[in-house]
Amino acid sequence: MNDYDVERMTEVLRRDGFERTEVAEEADMIVVNTCSIREKAENKAASAAGRYQKLKERNPNLLVAIGGCVAQQEGEALLKRIPSADLTFGPDQIPSLGAHYDKLRPQADLGSWPQIAAKANRYKLRLAQTEVIDVEDYQFLDADPRPGDVNVTALVTIQKGCDNFCAYCIVPRTRGREVSRPADQVVREVERFVSLGAREVTLIGQNVNAYHAIGTADGEDFAELLRLVDSVPGLLRLRFTTSHPHYFTHKVADAFRDLKTLQPWLHLPVQAGSTAVLHAMAREYTREAYLEKIAYIRKVCSDISLSTDIIVGYPGETESDFEQTLALLSEVEYDSIYSFSYSRRPGTPAVEMPDDVSAAEKSRRLTALQSLQKQITAKRLQRLVGRSEQVLVEGRSRANPNQICGRTGGNHTVNVEIGEGINIDTLIGTLVPVRIAAAKVHTLVGTLESGAGSRTLA
Ligand code: 5AD
Ligand code: SF4
Repeated sequence: MNDYDVERMTEVLRRDGFERTEVAEEADMIVVNTCSIREKAENKAASAAGRYQKLKERNPNLLVAIGGCVAQQEGEALLKRIPSADLTFGPDQIPSLGAHYDKLRPQADLGSWPQIAAKANRYKLRLAQTEVIDVEDYQFLDADPRPGDVNVTALVTIQKGCDNFCAYCIVPRTRGREVSRPADQVVREVERFVSLGAREVTLIGQNVNAYHAIGTADGEDFAELLRLVDSVPGLLRLRFTTSHPHYFTHKVADAFRDLKTLQPWLHLPVQAGSTAVLHAMAREYTREAYLEKIAYIRKVCSDISLSTDIIVGYPGETESDFEQTLALLSEVEYDSIYSFSYSRRPGTPAVEMPDDVSAAEKSRRLTALQSLQKQITAKRLQRLVGRSEQVLVEGRSRANPNQICGRTGGNHTVNVEIGEGINIDTLIGTLVPVRIAAAKVHTLVGTLESGAGSRTLA
């Protein structure tokens, strides 16, 4: 979601004459995007913004803007805390970024920056723009990528905000109420990405299964949206994230069996393995209900790769609750997990509960969880060794430019040895058959099946 927001900010500012630079010293405006999901992420963002003070001393006309969920929550307070910041803006204000810039630098002429720099220190205005747009008025920004900037894989948002109010979670407080993006807009955006070279699209939202912009009789709008996107010509692969288990229906599970582009990969955050903790988290499902959904998806799509999110050390989590989380990992056998220590977030109901698992105990549980998962991941990757997998080639491997890098349908990264004489560039964006030769800790290594790529001999 944050990557997606950064792309939109870039596009909005590009329309106003900005070009992206990776060199902070060259920038006329620096935008720091922030995440407040856990305290650690929040601190990271604030210290990043603080670092730009030095650059402002050198270029007093530099505008430092802080966006994202921390900015949304703290607005004015953040301006006070970070003297170098000129603007704080929440996620709903992204479309107005250029306008905010104009307010802060009214006479800025982007074509003549030396002149602007000479007027340094002239504009003393500082702004906190944290207004949340009403559900009825919310307009999704259409992606506006430049042809050369489109990768093989693209993200398309289908929803903003969340109406779930899980007790620990700050998202509904920072991103506001859930709004579903009109289906025709979603489909058009997928078509646009595909026409510019994308081959895989991931539909994103905080709780995609709650998508409701179609009005199907059976209330299965998300399943219907998947069907609409699946029929976009030229799209090879479709994924979606994130799903809330309570809303994940059999009909959506059936889509994994029925749709040609939907890949066998599902991220289904469980958060905890004990029903008591799930209840305290206001997650709206029990351990048993979750496991039933896993059993069903495995029935309709036996080879599916699963991933999840886990929080350890939630208020009141006992040793035996935690053991149920370990047991759930062993039972489900996820391909991968994201795991976190519980972090108190201001304004959430969980803040009222005593944070009674010590930091040391949270850390012990996290380590125990991750070491168990390491073994499970190894087993899950090992099952692929010797198999032939269709890999969508995304580019050259970072570590070795003579290898290609892509992902299996199950979302495992594979680095592939390329034989002599094959033109790597012509493989990018295509599906190639790869014999999996070995598994590393998180990735796979393979070789092109004989014959693959032969059409592309240089
Ligand atoms: N503490 C720890 N982890 C959290 N997450 C969300 N809020 C918190 C919190 N307060 C985790 C959840 C969620 C993921 C995106 O971040 O596991 O699924
Ligand atoms: Fe947060 Fe729960 Fe919404 Fe996910 S579903 S964004 S965890 S409130």
